[in-house]
Amino acid sequence: MGLFASKTKKIKPAKGLTGTVQFPGDKSISHRYAMLGAIAEGRSEIHFFSTSADCQSTLSCLKQLGVKIERKDHVVTIQGAGLGGLRRASEPLNAGNSGSTMRMLAGILAGQPFRSVIMGDASLSRRPMKRVADPLSQMGARITSREGGLPPLEIEGGALKPIRYEMPVASAQVKSAVLLAGLFAEGETEVVEKERTRDHTEIALEQMGADIGRHARTIVLRGRGRLEGKKLYVPGDFSSAAFFTVAGLVTPSSNLMLHNVGLNPTRTSILDVLAPMGARVAVVNLEMMNGELIGDLHVEASKLRGGEIPESAVPGLIDELPVLAVLGTQTEQGLTFRGAAELRVKESDRLAVVAKNLRRMGAEVEEFPDGLRVAGRQMLHGAEIDPHDDHRIAMAFAVAGLVAQGDTHIKNSSCVDISFPGFFDTLAVVTE
Ligand code: S3P
Repeated sequence: MGLFASKTKKIKPAKGLTGTVQFPGDKSISHRYAMLGAIAEGRSEIHFFSTSADCQSTLSCLKQLGVKIERKDHVVTIQGAGLGGLRRASEPLNAGNSGSTMRMLAGILAGQPFRSVIMGDASLSRRPMKRVADPLSQMGARITSREGGLPPLEIEGGALKPIRYEMPVASAQVKSAVLLAGLFAEGETEVVEKERTRDHTEIALEQMGADIGRHARTIVLRGRGRLEGKKLYVPGDFSSAAFFTVAGLVTPSSNLMLHNVGLNPTRTSILDVLAPMGARVAVVNLEMMNGELIGDLHVEASKLRGGEIPESAVPGLIDELPVLAVLGTQTEQGLTFRGAAELRVKESDRLAVVAKNLRRMGAEVEEFPDGLRVAGRQMLHGAEIDPHDDHRIAMAFAVAGLVAQGDTHIKNSSCVDISFPGFFDTLAVVTE
């Protein structure tokens, strides 16, 4: 039985998707606003805070560290404790299923004059943490983990020194952990990225008054400054909208408006990849909110060519690859991507789980160590899907079910709550 044992969801073939959709607040941005609000001076009021279970894990950990947090409807209010105001938690902090919570919070815990333990659920306990333990140890924290760099992490924080860190993996979580630790170090912390990853932490730090500069792929942060609490608005989650974007493109006669979606260019590579394949997605009503780009997407059913996704686009669409693989089955030429070995260490081994479930639906798939090749023009048939407790797999295969012949059954479907509670209801509202 899975962690999210719950009713199996039945997905029926769809004629098309029509109507308008609003999405819960962005998960990545919500984590950052909560963590920065907790160590800022004064009050932060965060509107449209993500309803995801992952962001609730972040709030719970921050509460355990003595931060005063209230949640009412879609607004989270945080009384900032300041850089020196967190308190040692009496129990281990529980990050649940959330890699972002564990990795980014590790950066803050590294700067605290006390010992913390942070643990997670079965899936998170299999995910690599050496990638944050290494730079944080270089900065002066003492970090122990289970063998192989696995959680739980025990973090003995203290006085940190700034470092220049050249990122060995493209990971916004690791970059953020180093920058957050840099807030507690005297002097300039530098992070150098080989490939650009989502920059919500840099933007949020700028918004809250940190001394931060960016030059090409280098980020420079001067530590021991003061962060100011703020009123902040979280855009709708682009990675949640991506499931509806793909569903709208591949189901015939679809016409969807996706409202108030975060369109930070470090997140929207999927649109850049789909446009030359013939995807009819129009971006309208652009505006800036707290340094983040936001807008609406108009999606229409499209004939898609398919092709190869360039490796350079992978970091910018890492969370969208499972649903892109599903889309590949409905293209003329199929879809190939490489350079995505990171997918093997997400909430599940997403390359293996996508390949297995696509094959169950009758698709032809080739699995590489770092990618997939999915044949085009595939007639999928309904099947029983095991999402391996991975929210993005469950949602990607709900989309596959819309274009399959016969019914698809998604087991343990409530794992979607990790990022998008209400996903199945929202889908039902726009499906014909
Ligand atoms: C995230 C970064 C990505 C992404 C995850 C959220 C973030 O992980 O897959 O869902 O909020 O910074 P990596 O940093 O491990 O690539």
